[in-house]
Amino acid sequence: DRRLPILAVDGPAGAGKSTVTRRAAQALGLQYLDTGAMYRAVTWWCLENNLDLRDEPAVVEAIAHCQLRLESSDPHQPTRVWINDREVSQAIRSLEVTQRVSQVAALRGVRRLMVRQQRAIGANGGIAAEGRDIGTHVFPEAGLKIFLTASPAERAQRRWQELQQQGQCDLSYEELLAQITARDTADQQRTYAPFRKAADAIEICTDNLGIDEVVSKIVHLYRSRLPQP
Ligand code: CDP
Ligand code: CDP
Repeated sequence: DRRLPILAVDGPAGAGKSTVTRRAAQALGLQYLDTGAMYRAVTWWCLENNLDLRDEPAVVEAIAHCQLRLESSDPHQPTRVWINDREVSQAIRSLEVTQRVSQVAALRGVRRLMVRQQRAIGANGGIAAEGRDIGTHVFPEAGLKIFLTASPAERAQRRWQELQQQGQCDLSYEELLAQITARDTADQQRTYAPFRKAADAIEICTDNLGIDEVVSKIVHLYRSRLPQP
């Protein structure tokens, strides 16, 4: 079997998953998959169509008819996303979507649809996937599982700086911290594929680590697990 192993990266909001996984994927020649962008895109679609998010059959039915397309060719830019040919790359990062995404992602029918697409993308190995349930549920056979963490204060600080740089200051640091902890809790407490560290995942706390250090740790770990010729 010459297929490259899958790299699975899970962790709470703002731990650096996207930033670090994109770069590790580039260094390792793997395709990058941002599963959070998928949950965000279908959440945006539900809000755009004024669906009642408590009406699970209606939500699942609407999402089942959605065509999602992800593109991440630039390792320094967020994933670009289209839903039914409409680009929603910016829209899926809005406050409204961020506040609602955990509710939509908790629905079993929604997760089934997303996980099926994620497994199809990883069917031939060679991908670096990032999210909340990658190592526990989507790709339990992944060759390397990383659990990326940082303290809530550090994660809120990073998000706040990011928003400042983009000139978006709709939330204070305290509001951001509250939002992040609320989302972590909701993701951990849902019934279907809750957010957990896989038993065989390697935990990296990034509180005192720079992006390059985290990337090189992951790249080394992944290479050390490749079958030796
Ligand atoms: O980047 P950030 O940490 O803000 O979140 P994200 O990775 O974009 O994910 C947004 C939300 O999607 C999470 O809070 C989860 O509710 C959901 N999600 C999930 O349930 N399972 C995944 N594999 C990825 C994301
Ligand atoms: O995907 P996730 O929500 O886990 O986090 P992210 O969006 O990749 O990263 C959040 C912010 O933390 C970004 O602005 C990164 O540049 C920053 N970061 C950092 O400062 N130090 C790290 N070791 C990793 C990320």
